[in-house]
Formats: sequence, C-alpha cells, structure tokens
Amino acid sequence: MDDSTSSEKTPIPPELFEEITLEIDRLSSSGDGLAFSTEHRLVFVVPFTVPGDTVVAKPYRYAKDGTYYHADFVRVVEPSQDRHDSEVKCGYFAKCAGCQFQMMLPQFQLDHKREVVSKAYLEYVGVDRKLVPEVEPTLASPKNYGYRTKVTPHFDAPPGARQAQRKGNKIFFTEPPPIGFQVKDRRITMDIEDCPLATDAVRVGMKKERKRVIDTIQTFSKGATLLVRENTDRIKDRPEIKEEDFKAPVVSKRDGVWEVKNYETDHKATIKEYIGDYLVTNLANSFFQNNNSILLPFMNYIRERIMPKDPDATKPSYLVDAYCGSGLFTITLSSLFKQSIGIDIDPHSIEFAAKNAKLNNLPDAQTKFMTETASQIFKSIEFPAEETVVVVDPPRKGCDVPFLTQLLKFSPQRIVYVSCNVHTQARDVAILLGGIPNVDAGFGLGGGAYELESLRGCDFFPQTRHVESVAILQRKKPVIERIIDETLDTKGVLTKPADIVK
Ligand SMILES: C[S@@+](CC[C@H](N)C(=O)[O-])C[C@H]1O[C@@H](n2cnc3c(N)ncnc32)[C@H](O)[C@@H]1O
Repeated sequence: MDDSTSSEKTPIPPELFEEITLEIDRLSSSGDGLAFSTEHRLVFVVPFTVPGDTVVAKPYRYAKDGTYYHADFVRVVEPSQDRHDSEVKCGYFAKCAGCQFQMMLPQFQLDHKREVVSKAYLEYVGVDRKLVPEVEPTLASPKNYGYRTKVTPHFDAPPGARQAQRKGNKIFFTEPPPIGFQVKDRRITMDIEDCPLATDAVRVGMKKERKRVIDTIQTFSKGATLLVRENTDRIKDRPEIKEEDFKAPVVSKRDGVWEVKNYETDHKATIKEYIGDYLVTNLANSFFQNNNSILLPFMNYIRERIMPKDPDATKPSYLVDAYCGSGLFTITLSSLFKQSIGIDIDPHSIEFAAKNAKLNNLPDAQTKFMTETASQIFKSIEFPAEETVVVVDPPRKGCDVPFLTQLLKFSPQRIVYVSCNVHTQARDVAILLGGIPNVDAGFGLGGGAYELESLRGCDFFPQTRHVESVAILQRKKPVIERIIDETLDTKGVLTKPADIVK
C-alpha cells in the first residue's frame, strides 16, 4: 500500500472556533451549505450559505459520525450569483433557527425543494429510478412572507430554578429573559420581538403576548412556551356594521362578507380557518397546517389528482382519511365520494372533525369519524378496496409496519400520501412499491402492489428548509390485465406481438 496516498487522504482537523475560508458547493437536504475543504480534506456544514458563495466560517463541532464538521457562518467573502441579500426581510436572519433561505429567490428555493424530494427517493432511500416518476415542479405558496398562522415563542427558566426546585424552593425572574426562538444549532433562546414569516394578526399577537409576559415576569418561576394562533371570522355585512366595530388587527370586506383576522393565545380556544368556502375549526394547540395561503391551491391539486388517470379505471366512491386530525381532507374532499371516513388517534381532533362535518353541512350518512390508532384502522372498514382511496398524512416519523402491512393487505385502488417529512415518506412508499416479506398484496408473497404515479413538493414553509411532499400511488394492474392493455387496441385487435407475455 502506498503510504503517501493514504496520508494524503487523512483529514486534517481544523482548530475549533478558528476562522477558515470555504467555498460552498451545494445545499444539504437540511438546508445548510456543504463545502469540501481541500486544505483539511473534510466536509464542512455551514448554515445560511448558498452554493457558489465563498464564506468565512468557524468550525465548532465534529459530527457524531465523524465524517464532517459543523461550522458557524461568519461572513460572505465572495457572494454566489444566487445570493440576494437584499431579499432578507428579518433582522434576526442568520442567527435565528426559524428560517434559512431568505437570501435565496423564491424560484431557487422551489427548485432546491424539488431536488430534495427527488434525492429522498433516489439517494436517501435508494428506490429504483425506474419506479420514480420525475418530480413535478414544487407548488409555490401564494405568500412568501406573512404566511405562518401559528408561532410558539418561548423562554427558559430563571438561572438556578431547577436546582432550587429539587430542594422544594422557587426562584422567580427579576428581569425579563430572552423570549423568542432558538439560536441556529444551539440550545439557546434568542430574544425576538417580531417574525415577518407570521401573518399580520399573529405578529400583533406576538408583540402583545411578549409585553404581557415582560410586564408580569416577576410572577414566573419556570420557562414557558407561548402560543399565538390566527383565528378567522367571516361575518355577513349588515348596514349597521362598521369596520371599527371589529377590534381585530386585520379586517377586510369582499362580496358583502367581512373577514376578521384576530389571534388567540389560550391553548384551549377554538380556532376557525377557512379553506375557500370550507370552515375547519380546531383547538388552538392542536395540529393544523400552518400556512393558510397555500391550502386552497394545495387542496385543488389533490382534488385534481385523487381520481385515477386511466378513464377506463373504476372511479373510487370511498375515501379513508387516515391520520385525519380535525378532518381537513375528509371535509374538503368528501363531495367527490359516496362515503368518507376519517380516523385519528386523538379524540379531541375527532370531536372537532365531527363538528366540522356538521358546520360544512356534510350528511352523517356520507361522512364519519372515529378515534382509532392507524394500525387498527382497516378492521372496521368495509369499503370495497378497488373503489377506495386512502389519504395518509402521518406525523414526521411516518407510518409504522403494522399500518403499512394492513394497507398492503387491504390494497385500496389509490393512495395519496401527504407528508411533512419526505425522507420517512420515501421509506414508506418504497415499502408500498416493493412489498413486505410474508405479506401478499395480490402479487405474491413479499411483492409490492403499487406504482408511484406522481410526486410533488408543496412549499408550505417558504424561507425554511421544510417541504411538504405529496406522493400519489395507483394499485398495479394484475399481469393479465396489463398484457391485454399493452397488446390489444380499443377494438380488441392485436397491435403488438404477444411475446410481451414472456
Ligand atoms: C400531520 S397531522 C395530519 C392531520 C390532518 N390530516 C391535517 O392535515 O390537518 C398527523 C395526525 O396524525 C395523528 N396521529 C398520530 N399518530 C397516530 C396513530 N398512530 N394513529 C392515528 N392517528 C395518529 C395525530 O393526532 C395528527 O392529527
């Protein structure tokens, strides 16, 4: 073995916290810049950078798996042509962990997110390229700022509070602590007065909520997470109504209807959100999509794609909304189906989902909800699988094997898998395409039952690294049907040699 070659490959660790200059090569799926330093023969991860930037960075930690260093971004030496610092709208940018992409144009962010979706399937999970369609251009958010309908600024306990608590004592704040969000890559809270990603009503609420806490800080002996969530009311205009009657930060009128946007800070308050003309209510502290501006185009996209592409395929009449929350998909899609059922593990969400069905005048016989864990869901569903679409929208960790096993055994005609974590989505979709040992989904033991029809990222979180991903799957046709489709024309005339049968 040639020693000189191996020593040339040996990484030379940098001095921690000493400035080094790096050229950023690409973005990771977590939105950080990646640079390979020929001097150190090492990869450095530098947040708040753009491919093509030359930057000064300070390495501060070796990654646990020993393959790269984390470095703090210090300054730009030579900007990339894709860096647009004039686009940055927030004074806390490049310190706060809340967002990473404000210096990139919206289209650059959308293109990056498209690549993240593609790489999750092809590289992270390694799905066979032949089984993955080209990822469609990312669905843009109508609002790039002012879209977040919920923020949760927090503050830490007073210094020494934990030790005091162990001894049965309390320490109260003597002055306000930083109240805001986390410093990027540090467990430190930074004081943040305003967030331009939030809607106007939430920004007003955030300032007032901070003031309330600061004014009464001597009464707090613990840290806390504050909640500020937008609430929307629509009120039909009447001659006696005047704009100033609404004590709300944002009021507008369209087609004879007032839209009043206010905020709630009580975790148990009921929140109203409109998606087009649909009204969805839920508890202020329970899950709901945080970007109201994209929900209508997003739901329109799902509506357009939920039925089979093939005009000869059976049109599904039944919808199962697994992980339904307060019923967003069931409520907005049920008019396309004879019957729909939504399932969620959280009884409060199911209570709201049932209320939401009534608020939207959906007949009981058409729409049902039940509290159940997703891994038990198909035991009580009697819909014919070949006429059913299942919408799957799990938490970030994705689905578990019992759920995927059941889903494969049930084998609905179509699956719409929505996820805020494309990496766990890609892992689960690979199972639906490739199968689970000992599960026969109609194509032999261990065989998968689905084709991935389309894949698209949706930009629910502009300026951040996050992307919502929608994968649409169609159950594969049995082999004999495929041969008939591929060899006979519409009149039943043989158009191709039958050697396809091999
Ligand atoms: C990402 S949210 C989706 C909610 C809803 N589809 C929406 O868009 O508003 C995930 C939902 O999964 C539910 N959930 C988590 N684990 C579950 C499980 N094992 N079975 C059923 N639901 C579960 C949560 O309560 C939450 O409502």
